[in-house]
Amino acid sequence: MIFWRRLRRRNQQYFRPVILVTGAGSGIGLALTKLLHPMSQYRVIATVRESSLVRMHAMFPARDGFDIQALDIRDTPGIDQLIAMVDQKYGGVNILINNAGISFRAVAEHMTDEDEVLQMSTNYFAAMALIRRVLPAMRKVGRGKIINVSSVSGMLAMPTMSSYSASKHALEGASEALWYEVKPFGIDVCLIQPGFINSSSFKNVYYTQDSHPDQSLQSEYQNYYRNMIPFVEKLMRKSFSTPEKIAGVILKAIQTENPPLWIPATFDAIFFYYVRRLVPRRFLLPLLFRLLPNAKTWAKDFSNKRTPRP
Ligand SMILES: NC(=O)c1ccc[n+]([C@@H]2O[C@H](COP(=O)([O-])OP(=O)(O)OC[C@H]3O[C@@H](n4cnc5c(N)ncnc54)[C@H](OP(=O)(O)O)[C@@H]3O)[C@@H](O)[C@H]2O)c1
Repeated sequence: MIFWRRLRRRNQQYFRPVILVTGAGSGIGLALTKLLHPMSQYRVIATVRESSLVRMHAMFPARDGFDIQALDIRDTPGIDQLIAMVDQKYGGVNILINNAGISFRAVAEHMTDEDEVLQMSTNYFAAMALIRRVLPAMRKVGRGKIINVSSVSGMLAMPTMSSYSASKHALEGASEALWYEVKPFGIDVCLIQPGFINSSSFKNVYYTQDSHPDQSLQSEYQNYYRNMIPFVEKLMRKSFSTPEKIAGVILKAIQTENPPLWIPATFDAIFFYYVRRLVPRRFLLPLLFRLLPNAKTWAKDFSNKRTPRP
């Protein structure tokens, strides 16, 4: 027994897992990269879009086993090239952190087909494309970890965020299925679920042509935007969670043997995780609707809703 433990510890000393992080140029990805950079026990590939390369090289001094690579996660040939390079140099990715993501702020009616594709291809298709390409090497060595950064929006949807919620629900559904599929190969799957984070990332939200403040405040949905946008921004500003704290949760998942599939990563995420499980949806949706700011006034001047006959 002691012999096996010593042998395992010795193997672990020589094994330097290869971690690939997407969206490492800002927010959670940047905070995680800052945590990983001094940790020489890991070989790290931090990926950013081309435009952030110079800034990242200036921020992170070169060290053995730390690479900064350009990757637009929607660029399939770019993914192929990167994974081929990692396979050749390191023998494959051991831990994949699917972090890069975007968030559209628009009611469903204000999304175009192209907007929907951009949202889904960034948050879901690209994450799955990376997963498919790292799995063969993980299966070959009999271990690996796939850590997908999801959201509370992957558990509960919010108005003005239908497409973002759909992308995170898709990621959650696929990760749940994947958990069963790859467990027998020694591969773990994790969903990190942050809620509201005190960061400037709300400034990065995407607007569609119709949901842009120049347009939307004249539309039938004006009260939704007038109330939801400041509401979300206020919750983010007041949140005690920061990108650094979420990065800490991801690092813990990296270092934990057999981490759970769902890891709610902020206080509100833990709260909603249990609310969703304990309160029947039939009651939950009307209750949450009442808690949304001035929800009774939404569409007031524009609705032709029919009232039931007496
Ligand atoms: N902030 C929150 O409140 C919150 C809450 C729940 C979940 N999350 C999730 O956490 C993850 C990280 O978000 P964050 O808060 O750190 O936001 P962020 O600061 O906006 O970071 C997102 C990162 O993704 C990158 N990215 C977007 N599209 C890309 C593409 N096509 N190719 C490569 N990189 C791309 C961005 O790169 P560029 O800088 O080049 O655009 C950016 O570095 C996301 O998956 C998000 O959905 C965030």
